[in-house]
Amino acid sequence: MSGHSDIVLVDEKGMRIDGRTAEEHRAVKIEAGVLKNADGSAYVEIGKNKVLAAVYGPRECHPRHLQNPTKAIVQCKYNMEAYSVGDRKRPGTDRRSIEISKITAEALENVILTGLFPRASIDVYIEILQANAGTRCAGLTAASVALADAGIPMKDIVPAMAAGKADGHVLLDLNKEEDNYGQADVPLAIVPSTEEIVLLQMDGNMTREEFDRAIEMAVGGCKELYALQKDALKRRYTVDGEEDDSDEQ
Ligand code: CDP
Repeated sequence: MSGHSDIVLVDEKGMRIDGRTAEEHRAVKIEAGVLKNADGSAYVEIGKNKVLAAVYGPRECHPRHLQNPTKAIVQCKYNMEAYSVGDRKRPGTDRRSIEISKITAEALENVILTGLFPRASIDVYIEILQANAGTRCAGLTAASVALADAGIPMKDIVPAMAAGKADGHVLLDLNKEEDNYGQADVPLAIVPSTEEIVLLQMDGNMTREEFDRAIEMAVGGCKELYALQKDALKRRYTVDGEEDDSDEQ
């Protein structure tokens, strides 16, 4: 997020370098139930981002000292593969992955009915296979579909999308160039049924008016994503009204 470059990110007609208007998000593909050995799973593409999420649990919480006698805990591991970015990323946990794992688990704790599973752990693994900005949002979007696929009771599923500012324009769902050379990035996640915000971060600078517009755009993007999350779950469990168990063979 350098905020200045010679690259034109939004042309005089308001078009972005990938041909989108300010209000358009990137192409989205969501598939539920892609991993046989996990309790629940999902694969998500948002533009050039490719993300896999796997869920295990509720199961006995290890290490035991983390157990909560009143509710399940949600443990999340966000991992960016070494090959997911242009320059090889150093494998393993870093400050950024610890932060993203924490905010993802906190967002999901708002919707999972953790009180039903005392002493248990619900484990969420997010693997970023290919990154192009917006991976925390794509990861959370995938994780909530994977939780639903695992049959974990939840108030709702959680869509996440960022809005931001580049070349002085407020834009939905920044791509890598807009994220690198733009002025601000605001990832957001909501509980669609209540419009409660469960994740909100901000990198860069915006005026109050621009921030309000960015939130409005991101909430709109999340609602579109929500419809696609539900479609993916319906496709997984219904083929002409029957449960789809084709991957069980
Ligand atoms: O991915 P997200 O926008 O949630 O997080 P970020 O920290 O703002 O990173 C923006 C983008 O920078 C990522 O999606 C990657 O494309 C890239 N990145 C990278 O190339 N190498 C890293 N170690 C971290 C991020």
